[in-house]
Amino acid sequence: MNFSIKTTSPSQAQVDLLILYSWRGEKAETLVPNNLKLQSSIKEAMTREQFRGDEGEYVDIYTKGEIEAYKILVVGLGKEEDFDLYKLRKSIAAATKKAKQFKVKKLAFVPHNSWYKKFEPELVGQSMVEGVVLGGYKFLKYKGKEEKEKNIELEDIMFLVTPNKVAGMEKGLGIGKIFSAATIFARDLINEPAAVTTPTYLAKIALDLGKKAAGQIKVKILEKEEVAKMGMGAFLGVAQGSEEPPKFIVLHTKPAGAREKVVVVGKGITFDTGGLSLKPAEHMMTMKMDMSGAATVLALFAGLTHLKPKVEVVGVIAACENMPSGKAVKPGDILTAMNGKTIEVLNTDAEGRLTLADGLSYAVGQKPQAIIDLATLTGACMVALGQEIAGMWGNDEKLNDKVKKASEVVGEKLWHMPLEKEYKPLIKSDIADIKNIQTGKYGGAITAALFLEEFVDKIPWVHLDIAGPAYEESETTLVPKGGAGYGVRTILQYLLDLGK
Ligand code: BES
Ligand code: ZN
Ligand code: ZN
Repeated sequence: MNFSIKTTSPSQAQVDLLILYSWRGEKAETLVPNNLKLQSSIKEAMTREQFRGDEGEYVDIYTKGEIEAYKILVVGLGKEEDFDLYKLRKSIAAATKKAKQFKVKKLAFVPHNSWYKKFEPELVGQSMVEGVVLGGYKFLKYKGKEEKEKNIELEDIMFLVTPNKVAGMEKGLGIGKIFSAATIFARDLINEPAAVTTPTYLAKIALDLGKKAAGQIKVKILEKEEVAKMGMGAFLGVAQGSEEPPKFIVLHTKPAGAREKVVVVGKGITFDTGGLSLKPAEHMMTMKMDMSGAATVLALFAGLTHLKPKVEVVGVIAACENMPSGKAVKPGDILTAMNGKTIEVLNTDAEGRLTLADGLSYAVGQKPQAIIDLATLTGACMVALGQEIAGMWGNDEKLNDKVKKASEVVGEKLWHMPLEKEYKPLIKSDIADIKNIQTGKYGGAITAALFLEEFVDKIPWVHLDIAGPAYEESETTLVPKGGAGYGVRTILQYLLDLGK
């Protein structure tokens, strides 16, 4: 896929498909101001097909040689006041999907003029590339030849702009390419079966990233014995039921001029059966995705080597499987985390918080200015916010705001949730410091966040519960069924803003 920014006028663009955008109620005259013949063709199609410019609506027109492009697609945007960078990406992804259906390979997008009134050209460019790449993504590795051949690979994608927008668009295009490649890196990892993405495999991916980055990224893999010496009893408690050896993965990059240090911790359960508190079959079906947080961390480093923001970043993944077996941790067992706190395990399916307890304790030891964790942590968060929105908890308003702002720029939805101290007694244990499930059945995503807070030692920290948006159970415009790579772009944007 080759992207370019061109100042060619839309009527001169030699492409298979020219994509124009229309607000609700916008007239053909303003879409193609200088071409009367084309105006009347578009107008006719719009009237015949009752196109109003609503979001998700489109109309396509053969140009019959009136301009260079073979075909035009007009895409509806809905009302201007409802438009944001998420919808911009969606509108691009939707057009990309249409282009693939039309089986065309060369396209030109004409960004709507009024987009620049709302957003800098740089952000328009970034969003457009992300829309094309993310909307066009398919995981076809295990499909046959026929299915692979049916998938049209777009070849040339042009964005047509006026000369004063070129520099900004070019910059955004560069960022968008890195952001979307990193997201796809995460998607591919999540979509791989758990038989492939074992803890050992994730460690190998990390080591490969280190090798490719030629000294920019240092990677350390801590084996079970070393992890035991460091006192990570909570992580090892989860890992002990599995035949697969656990791996504690640490990635580190410290560019010259870095002022701040951020640790990003990703939940890395490569398969979650629930352990002895075994999950029912339907709930287990998608549990290869329980390493989505880890995939995000690895993808970040794939992106950071190209972006090079001036921030020191440490990535932490406590990777293991959660399996039932004769050696598995049992309900009632007590584990001691690296920070010395004791945890009564009452449900072995609440394993993510156990591995994160040690991941976060390790993060604290790095003495960073901020810790961010991403975890497919609770079904309760999905009940609260649905499939598309992540929950955000944090102990520092400034950090919360920065992460929220980054998420809005990249169009990944998240919602700030309360770290409600009055619920703390719900995770008090009768026999240890805390227990891994709560008393009562409500507010499970909040009590999980409160559990994690026990391990961050007052360092500014944000927890993202990505159980919903990490994995799509049915296709959306920007994500097909399967891994979404959620969080990659938000954290990259946050780091980019921090290291400017
Ligand atoms: N990995 C799951 C959470 C999850 C559920 C992620 C569905 C994505 C989709 C997690 O380890 C888990 O099982 N959590 C339990 C916690 C409970 C036992 C307190 C849950 O949410 O049911
Ligand atoms: Zn679980
Ligand atoms: Zn889990």
